Amino acid sequence: MYFYLGRSSLPKSCKFFSECKSPAVYQIPHSRLSLCRQHYLKNVEKRVKELIEKKHMFHPDRDEKLLVAASGGKDSQVLLSIIKKLYPVGLDVEALYIELGISQENYSQDSGIVARKFCEELNIPFHQLNVKDTYGFNIDDIHQLNAEVEDRKWKFDKDPMRGECSYCGTLKRYMINKFAFENGFTCVATGHNLTDETTQLMNNFFNMDLNFLAKSGPVADVHIPKLVPRVKPLFFISEEEIAMYAYFADIAHLGTECAYSTHVPNIQLKKALKEIEDYRRGNNLSLARRYHKIMQPVIEKAVHSDKSNDKLCSVCGFPTFGKKCKFCKTIAVLTDRFQQLKIEL
Ligand code: AMP
Ligand code: FES
Ligand code: ZN
Ligand code: ZN
Repeated sequence: MYFYLGRSSLPKSCKFFSECKSPAVYQIPHSRLSLCRQHYLKNVEKRVKELIEKKHMFHPDRDEKLLVAASGGKDSQVLLSIIKKLYPVGLDVEALYIELGISQENYSQDSGIVARKFCEELNIPFHQLNVKDTYGFNIDDIHQLNAEVEDRKWKFDKDPMRGECSYCGTLKRYMINKFAFENGFTCVATGHNLTDETTQLMNNFFNMDLNFLAKSGPVADVHIPKLVPRVKPLFFISEEEIAMYAYFADIAHLGTECAYSTHVPNIQLKKALKEIEDYRRGNNLSLARRYHKIMQPVIEKAVHSDKSNDKLCSVCGFPTFGKKCKFCKTIAVLTDRFQQLKIEL
């Protein structure tokens, strides 16, 4: 799957051979730069640091408190490692893992163990929240609810049932922000990567979802009361490059994907973008760069002029576009449906 070693076009020596006297082990797909292990790790770290600084994501020399959303997957494990490497002292970093209750292949339990162990190794304080303890149900329960609804051929005209990953996203986003806000964090960092971001971008584009298109970017939720700014330092690093970084830096991570995510429509889109990348080298990177430089500011201006989330939810008091926030509506709808279908929680 990866190009390291054995790739016929890979030059034998690192581009900086005069410095390192080392063979090349990997060729960066979009730039065709062939590098040794050490120079590859440095290259990724440099690109991450440049984005953090360019976008003023966080400032180690100020009174910053950074929360990394840690899932145990390769992206957030690599992110934790790079942040600790770039800022060994001076930056207050902690991690939060959300236990979502996905029992297939022991997914949630193993993810939590991997994330916790790595944070202990890096000396990063680790926090864990459990969705079911907090809200009474988890993702497996939502899966059961979906199955029952389908079995009985129930249709909900208002607010039809969505896939598990969609609910999961709403729960995670809300819980991470609430925890960060209530515990005085000034910034939340997630491991979102270039491949996932361009896939999401194309999905939003095909749906002409201007609200999502406006929000897309390496930095979000700045200057909105009760929303802690969210940053994505790996925004311009592809999934393959992150996997290679994890491999060469020997970073432990959970290799399996969430079992429910194999059904999401974005998987096909991701495959299509990969095929385009095969004949348009660097397509994803230039798409993301150009979109955020040229189109996103225009869409953001248009959307924000008539719609803003500066109201506060009548139930929880967190920001919302309408009267009730999406999270509170979701919890109310699901709680009601669990009761209607008499699903034991
Ligand atoms: P995903 O939406 O699963 O691709 O995850 C994107 C990012 O969200 C990850 O890189 C993490 O930073 C964060 N994240 C995902 N799942 C969790 C979780 N269970 N707990 C904390 N953060 C998470
Ligand atoms: Fe959480 Fe699929 S259910 S990512
Ligand atoms: Zn080298
Ligand atoms: Zn609310």
